[in-house]
Amino acid sequence: MRKAVRIAGLGLLLALVAWQFVQSPRNTGVAEGPSSIVAIHPVPTEVHRILTRACYDCHSNSTKYPWYAAVQPVGWWLNRHVTDGRTELNLSEFAAYSPKRAMRKLNNVAEEVQDGHMPLKSYLLLHGEAKLTDADIALLAGWAEDLAAEIKAR
Ligand code: HEC
Repeated sequence: MRKAVRIAGLGLLLALVAWQFVQSPRNTGVAEGPSSIVAIHPVPTEVHRILTRACYDCHSNSTKYPWYAAVQPVGWWLNRHVTDGRTELNLSEFAAYSPKRAMRKLNNVAEEVQDGHMPLKSYLLLHGEAKLTDADIALLAGWAEDLAAEIKAR
């Protein structure tokens, strides 16, 4: 019995070691190219600062990876958030959204931050710099709602 546990433990260890050679894909494009939200809409400096420090890692084409992203399976787990986040909202590809979709996404931005759903809790544990104050939330949500209203009025 004990031998079986030891063999299983060794097997698990070897699998983990082998996994280190299968690094997860990385999101290392350009955050602010010609299709980015900043290229087509006014984004005040303060709002821009909030987006870059708290949202770009999962909602742009450029993620700044922490060292532990090189440790698997952590890297794969992080990559899942980045992939899912960018599928829902990619600020680097905002120009490709129809006006209707852009409006919906902007209203969702206001809603998600006001409800405290974004940035993700698990992200905040290791990214203190991404925490939003009430003032940050009011600023970001106000900007997003105003921009949505402006797109609607066009
Ligand atoms: C650690 C990664 C991560 C960070 C950082 C992050 N998000 Fe997200 N976001 C996600 C993921 C994953 C989803 C999709 C699943 C979900 O809704 O939980 C998502 C979904 C969203 C959605 C929903 C889009 C839709 O149309 O349903 C909005 C809006 C959003 N995020 C805004 C933000 C904003 C604004 C910030 C910064 C203040 C932010 N997120 C930071 C990962 C992240």
